[in-house]
Amino acid sequence: MKAVAGMIICLSLFVGLAVVAAEAPDKIVYESKMGNVTFDHTKHVERAKNDCKVCHDKLFPQAKAPLNYKEKMHRVAEEKKISCGGCHHPGGPAFESKGNCNKCHVKGAAKS
Ligand code: HEC
Ligand code: HEC
Ligand code: HEC
Repeated sequence: MKAVAGMIICLSLFVGLAVVAAEAPDKIVYESKMGNVTFDHTKHVERAKNDCKVCHDKLFPQAKAPLNYKEKMHRVAEEKKISCGGCHHPGGPAFESKGNCNKCHVKGAAKS
């Protein structure tokens, strides 16, 4: 009986660790008629000086979830400073969407 309980505890610890140590992705591709968008997670993490909290979970949950970015061609997110618009907005630390569609939307970019 004790052995079984021990096994169960070990197993749940193992599963717990696996969840905490979820590997950060390298690149995430968002499909779009405008041309697919490749989000370079690694480069963005480097620029954030490895501080995950810059984006998680304030701007994004650490999981694939609705981005809440595309409404009204990104203007809504830029105004609210949410999602990619948390940085990519006029006067922000990264280029705004206006005039920069092609910096993100690349025709013929690979699908994930
Ligand atoms: C510049 C912002 C930013 C930073 C900094 C950042 N992330 Fe992310 N991360 C994202 C975005 C955007 C997504 C995708 C969210 C979505 O599609 O819903 C994501 C997704 C993830 C996912 C889920 C991947 C998947 O495909 O399901 C994990 C795990 C993750 N990040 C871990 C990390 C870790 C660990 C760090 C720190 C080393 C980190 N992130 C730093 C923006 C960031
Ligand atoms: C924490 C701030 C931050 C967030 C959030 C963020 N970016 Fe960026 N991003 C930057 C910075 C800084 C640069 C580089 C500076 C520049 O070119 O204006 C950049 C550059 C880029 C580039 C150019 C290629 C590269 O990586 O160098 C793309 C494409 C891009 N971001 C897409 C996105 C998308 C899509 C999202 C949302 C899923 C997003 N970014 C969210 C800060 C951010
Ligand atoms: C910072 C990167 C970035 C810039 C700049 C950007 N986009 Fe996007 N765009 C995205 C991402 C990421 C998505 C996918 C959002 C999602 O799946 O929720 C998207 C989605 C869209 C969509 C809806 C999805 C579809 O089916 O096509 C439209 C329309 C769009 N963008 C138009 C534009 C236009 C027009 C511009 C220039 C004025 C622009 N985008 C600039 C990142 C960007």
